[in-house]
Order: sequence, then C-alpha cells, then structure tokens
Amino acid sequence: MQLPPALRKAIEQELKGCDGARLRAASARLTECYREGTASGALSNIALSNDIERAAYLAVRLPATFAATVAALTWAREACGSEFRTVLDLGSGPGTALWAALQVFPSLERVTAFERDPSLIEIARRLSACAENPALRETNWLQGDLTAAIPEGTWDLVICSYALNELRETRRADFISKAWVRTGKLLVVIEPGTKMGFANILDLRARLLAEGATIAAPCPNSPSCPMSGSNDWCHFAARVERTTEHRRLKNATLGHEDEKFSYLAFSRRELSAPNARIVRHPKIFSGYTHLTLCREGEIANTTVTRSKKDDWRRLKRLGWGDGW
Ligand SMILES: C[S@@+](CC[C@H](N)C(=O)[O-])C[C@H]1O[C@@H](n2cnc3c(N)ncnc32)[C@H](O)[C@@H]1O
Repeated sequence: MQLPPALRKAIEQELKGCDGARLRAASARLTECYREGTASGALSNIALSNDIERAAYLAVRLPATFAATVAALTWAREACGSEFRTVLDLGSGPGTALWAALQVFPSLERVTAFERDPSLIEIARRLSACAENPALRETNWLQGDLTAAIPEGTWDLVICSYALNELRETRRADFISKAWVRTGKLLVVIEPGTKMGFANILDLRARLLAEGATIAAPCPNSPSCPMSGSNDWCHFAARVERTTEHRRLKNATLGHEDEKFSYLAFSRRELSAPNARIVRHPKIFSGYTHLTLCREGEIANTTVTRSKKDDWRRLKRLGWGDGW
C-alpha cells in the first residue's frame, strides 16, 4: 500500500523546512516511545509537544497508521457495505484516518474531525487542503478533549484510530459508550497490534456487545473471543511502502514496513459474518497450505491441499486477516 500521492506530497512539503538532524533525532525518539509505550499499553506519555515531534509523527508514524486504518476499514466494508455519507474521526491528529476513510469509502461527503492539539489540527488542515477529494478539503476540524465531551450528533461512520490507548484507562469505557451513541452505522476502533492494544480492544468488545452492537469484523459469529485469557492476541498486519525519507529516518533497509494492529468494527445492524477468519500468515508448502482460523469460538488449524480445487483457488486471493 502507498500513501495517496497528494498526501505524500503534502507531507514532503511539511518536512521541507525541518532541520534534518533534529528530525532524525525526534523520529528515533518517537519510534522508541512507541516501542516502549505499546509494550506497556500506556501511550499517554507520548505527547507531540513541539513542531519537530509533530513533523516526526508525519514522517514515521502516519504512513503506518494510514495503512492499518485502510486495512481495517476494508475488512469492515466487506461485512457491511459502503453506503456511508458522514464520518467522524475521534483523536484525529493529522487527519490520517480521514484520508484512509475517503480512500475506502469514496461516498463520504461530510467529514468531521475531533482532536485535542490545536497545532495538529493546523497541520491536518494544511494536509487536507492538498486533497483531491472536496469532502476532505472541507473537513470540519473541531478541537476538544475526548474525555470531556465529544461532538453532539450522529455520523454513519465513527473512527478512533490509535487514540484509545492515549486515554487514561478509567476514562475509556465512558468514552467508547459516547462514541457508540454518535455512531449511525459503524464504529471502528484501531489500536497497536500488541498484547496491550488487543487487551484495550477486548474491553470494548464486551461493553459494546452488551450495548447491542454487532461485530462487523474481524470476529466470525461468536459471542466470546477464543483469544481472551490466552497468551495469544488477535492482530493483523498492513504493509506500507517506504519513501526514501522514511527509510532514511528509520535507518531501514527494507522498502516496506509492516504495521501490526488490532481492531474491531461494530455495526448497528445484524450482519452475516464469514464462517471463519484467517488469523495468522498462511504457511505455504508445496501442494498444501496451513491455515490458522478463528472459527466457532475457537482457534483451529486446518490444511488446504491442492486437491481441494475450489478452496485452493480461493486461497490464492486470500491472506492473513481475510474471511474464510
Ligand atoms: C497516535 S495519535 C493518532 C492520530 C491519528 N488518529 C492517526 O491514526 O494517525 C493520537 C491522537 O489522539 C489525540 N488525543 C489523545 N488524547 C486525546 C484527548 N483526550 N482528546 C482529544 N484528542 C486526544 C492526540 O492528540 C493525537 O493526535
């Protein structure tokens, strides 16, 4: 996956004025913070407190959160279709999830963002001014605190991408219930694909199922999660191509980055879920493939052989994260 060309160019423009050495140092600090923060589950220590840290976020984190959000929304779309006209992004930062939402749901025509940091809102405004999509260019940027009051109204699609873990644990339940009240059709929450990110997601799962939500993705039709209470955690990966600058700032040799993420998409309508979901990279051998599936309330391994022609053909188009 690549960033939309207009977003890539707008980010290049933002980074142009930055001192290279300071940007490299800030990028390294941010990457390290994420590594430590996502391991401990608490990212509230990551405040993007100055221009260079915000620029570093654009350079080294935004491409990954964009890719994760596109992937999560695409899987949600498979379950619930694409008839969305309005979107609200909670904890919008530089507007990453909105670019992703417009890519997956081009039918969106009213876009609202809610973010605490006025400087990030300014950056988001400048980035979105470069978008081809008029709905994104005309985003309503609102400033406020997610734990105080989120905007009144209802949106077809509500997204909270990589922001839940920045809220104090005691404030998350109340926040997510409010986000659900604002949701007309679909609420998508995306968190880092770590044990702690998954634990955050699991808390929501029970809460929103009790409030009448249906899970659109990734869970196949089971009320309980088989990974809950186990040593395993449900997560997926999205691949994003690195620009030369991204490679330089992250001291990376590979031309791509794989972002691990956990997510849940909650629908207001009953949906027909796939029978199973592939929850690990398929292991491909000559003539057969091992799949790890989440199915009927348990994690099961299955083997697809070349002799099962239909399954074999289907598998060619599918991978980790897809319904089976
Ligand atoms: C890691 S960034 C994610 C930004 C964007 N959603 C993305 O996917 O790239 C988390 C964002 O949540 C915002 N945030 C954290 N706590 C908040 C709060 N209490 N109220 C509003 N925004 C908050 C931060 O300012 C930051 O912009």
